[in-house]
Amino acid sequence: MIHEQERLKERIAVELDRVRRRSNGLTVEALDEHELLAQHSPLMSPLVWDLAHVGNYEEQWLLRAAGGREALRPDIDGLYDAFENPRADRVTLPLLRPQEAREYNERVRREVLDTLEGADLSVRPGAPGRAGHSERSLLEAGFVFHMVIQHEHMHDETMLATHQLRRGAPALLEETPSLGPMDPPEAHEVLVPAGPFTLGTDDDPWSYDNERPAYVVDLPAYWIDTTPVSNAAYQEFIADGGYRRSELWSRAGWEWRSAREAVAPAFWSLEEGRWTRRRFGRREDVPPNEPVQHVSFHEAEAYAHWAGKRLPTEAEWEKAARYDPATGRSHRFPWGDAEPEPRHANLGQRRLAPSPVGAHPDGASPLGVRQLIGDVWEWTSTTFHGYPGFRAFPYREYSEVFFGDGYKVLRGGSWATHPTAVRSTFRNWDHPIRRQIFSGLRCARDADRD
Ligand code: AVJ
Ligand code: FE
Repeated sequence: MIHEQERLKERIAVELDRVRRRSNGLTVEALDEHELLAQHSPLMSPLVWDLAHVGNYEEQWLLRAAGGREALRPDIDGLYDAFENPRADRVTLPLLRPQEAREYNERVRREVLDTLEGADLSVRPGAPGRAGHSERSLLEAGFVFHMVIQHEHMHDETMLATHQLRRGAPALLEETPSLGPMDPPEAHEVLVPAGPFTLGTDDDPWSYDNERPAYVVDLPAYWIDTTPVSNAAYQEFIADGGYRRSELWSRAGWEWRSAREAVAPAFWSLEEGRWTRRRFGRREDVPPNEPVQHVSFHEAEAYAHWAGKRLPTEAEWEKAARYDPATGRSHRFPWGDAEPEPRHANLGQRRLAPSPVGAHPDGASPLGVRQLIGDVWEWTSTTFHGYPGFRAFPYREYSEVFFGDGYKVLRGGSWATHPTAVRSTFRNWDHPIRRQIFSGLRCARDADRD
């Protein structure tokens, strides 16, 4: 037991260090002070806000809530409270300068590593068991450390969206690791057989409150595509008048399209009959075989209608991503329970783009569905709600305050999502009009039409 805790603490220390190196790489090591303090889009915070916010969150949860310590900088808490300050206003606040933010973060981190040594991460008998999910304590099985690590990785993905919106010379290195085998799936879609499976989890030590409690869902059979929708397929939708045909759009979707005068995914433009895109400050041709990204929920839904299909519900998505009909068992990832490796999925910003459609055969689900994890977040048709018996833990503002209010669920993570911040039960959400995130789609359809 003691050894297990030591191993867990080592892993936590490694992941804390890893995420901080990533945050610094996207901020103080990538851009000058002026650019870090600037607001690059009304949708986003100045990067320096994200940087000190992750340190402040770490201080609040690891030093104060879990460690019982006093505030290091009570004067700055209000500045970094996401609810007190809308993103568009943060640039006007007396924020810590980049160097101050970095020093504050380092100070917090030194004390955190100190408290980690003596922390009791043991799991109380019977918890976090089936009924005990809400009785979970902050430290148990390292929960609050995992929460803080994932929080910073989520902000790093948000910071990447800020980099993508930013104008000016490229600031991020273009890395081009090899992609591994390309062996596109034979079938375009697979039939997921009818029957019950368990949605969500009770005992994943990295899971958020909104992934709990697990419950059984009995779904009718449905078809799901083996890959996300490609840029080539999406261009056919555009060429076929997809953005001009109101019958393909929901009412809200058509309103959005019209007000926005959208004609293509964000960052695309037509140059002499060729679609190009701006990607992290570089202009390039749209690669036909990459999953489409930077589409809103409304665009995803219109595309699916045009294709004679629909978006999957989040339960359909999760069943495709976890359930093995041959054994009746569910796994943490489509490929099983093993931690994600580069061969399984394009995660963690190894590249600054999704892998081509048909990549990562090693990450396929038992039914042969590819790229469920990584590459692009996939819009589902489901509005964000708590599962039956949901209990907010440890704070309502992580997810509960967003339930119901017009947020749609996205699943699976993107190329920008860190492996520790996604699994087949993980739920993300956003407004249906948002497309600065790394969002794409996969289609599904009912089985009873054949
Ligand atoms: C889960 C990605 C929707 O960015 O709003 C960050 C994550 N929560 N800080 C967000 C989050 C608190 C959240 N998402
Ligand atoms: Fe946050």
